[in-house]
Amino acid sequence: MSSNIVAILYLVSALLFIFALRGLSHPESSRLGNIFGVVGMIIAIITTLMFKSVLSYVEIGSAILVGGAIGTFIALRIEMTALPQLVAAFHSLVGIAAVFVAAAAFYDPMAFGIGNIGSIGMSSLIEMSIGTFIGAITFSGSVLAFGKLQGTVSGKPIVFKFQHSINALILIFIIILIFLFVRNQSPTIFWSIVLVSIILGFLVVIPIGGADMPVVVSMLNSYSGWAACGIGFTLSNNLLIITGALVGASGAILSYIMSKGMNRSIISVVLGGFGGEQSSSSSSDNSDKVVKQGNAEDAAYVLKNADSVIIVPGYGMAVAQAQHALREMSDILKNEGINVRYAIHPVAGRMPGHMNVLLAEANVEYEEVLELEEINHDFPMTEVSFVIGANDVTNPAAKTDKSSPIYGMPILDVEKSQTVLFIKRSMATGYSGVDNELFYRDNTTMLFGDAKKMCEDIVKSLG
Ligand code: TAP
Repeated sequence: MSSNIVAILYLVSALLFIFALRGLSHPESSRLGNIFGVVGMIIAIITTLMFKSVLSYVEIGSAILVGGAIGTFIALRIEMTALPQLVAAFHSLVGIAAVFVAAAAFYDPMAFGIGNIGSIGMSSLIEMSIGTFIGAITFSGSVLAFGKLQGTVSGKPIVFKFQHSINALILIFIIILIFLFVRNQSPTIFWSIVLVSIILGFLVVIPIGGADMPVVVSMLNSYSGWAACGIGFTLSNNLLIITGALVGASGAILSYIMSKGMNRSIISVVLGGFGGEQSSSSSSDNSDKVVKQGNAEDAAYVLKNADSVIIVPGYGMAVAQAQHALREMSDILKNEGINVRYAIHPVAGRMPGHMNVLLAEANVEYEEVLELEEINHDFPMTEVSFVIGANDVTNPAAKTDKSSPIYGMPILDVEKSQTVLFIKRSMATGYSGVDNELFYRDNTTMLFGDAKKMCEDIVKSLG
């Protein structure tokens, strides 16, 4: 295939990827966005396979088959709730791939058209070492993020003295190593860059506490994009450069939006850790307080007699797969003339857009689903807040308790409504491990049970 045709087809793929991102930015256009992305990727893969320089289709085919089989197996088995750690695991693969491509180019530069061993061009050496550095950080940071999200490693922030200064010194050391590598082209220095960057990747993620992990996953997503971009330079592949930059930039924007949503500083996320100095449990002792309990019939009575209801879904709704029963319940209430809306916190659940996806799956109308800043001021005028499997995103400690790990995160002001109904199975804490004093308030009624079962029972009681 001539290089002109390759360039045009790559341009078409790149445009399709941009349309895909545009489409994915809204639930209504997301399916079309997905199709654009798939078509763009098919064109990109076929064009790449048509390269004259392809040596063996058997090897490429076998790799696609093995990788595709593993990917399909994982995709079919994975629980929706385990997606964040899966994403982290996949990012680690992108990171290590970047390191391996750079190593391949370094050991066989002629195959990549970048010179001979020992006399590789300076710009290629700089691209190669930066790609290696970002790839290695992405690899180790993602492996640790996977461990924290999966629960194999403690999710608690690990902090020690002079942490930021040590990270900064290591970064300076890596810059010096890159400088030496570009001058000497030494394999020892190349592998030193890999090793020290892997250590830095671990150090950047260890101080991050559980509740802040979403931002880190999104940041690693961005890093993996830049690592892919680096591979693009090493391979002189324009499409990989563009695609990597798109992933890198969109991941960075998402990290920024999420940091803002959680009132964290993006700079401290990038430098490694925030909120680490704070304790991981709430200082309040609620052991002697009592809670008001109710059942499905009580909830049905309260809901039926309200004019306005705001539903606040959280991680527990995803675990229970309660979205369909919830929708059935809200349909009954709407038929009674009650104003029912959904309030979505930016980090409700375990991944960005988690609640939106589940509600869309249950065919909840998009205009009923409102973001935190669109609906938060409506809680004081609302009769019932119906909190289903959400906890941290409603916890007022985020506003008042400076020692809380979620301090500073904006929360949904459910306590300002007349009545709060909380569905959860027990008094257990949420993801961040912090007690929620809302459970003990006079205007709160706890509905203990599985979220789906409780919604089904409320539907029966309403009927
Ligand atoms: P959480 O604070 O984690 O609370 C979820 C609650 O659901 C738990 O307290 C649990 O209580 C309850 N639950 C679990 N299974 C249930 C079931 N089958 N039926 C009924 N209730 C059930 O959730 P949230 O309010 O959505 O907040 C999200 C948290 O996750 C935040 O701290 C956020 O920072 C973090 N996080 C978010 C993301 C993203 S990107 N969204 C990624 C990683 C982490 P019981 O055990 O008593 O039932």
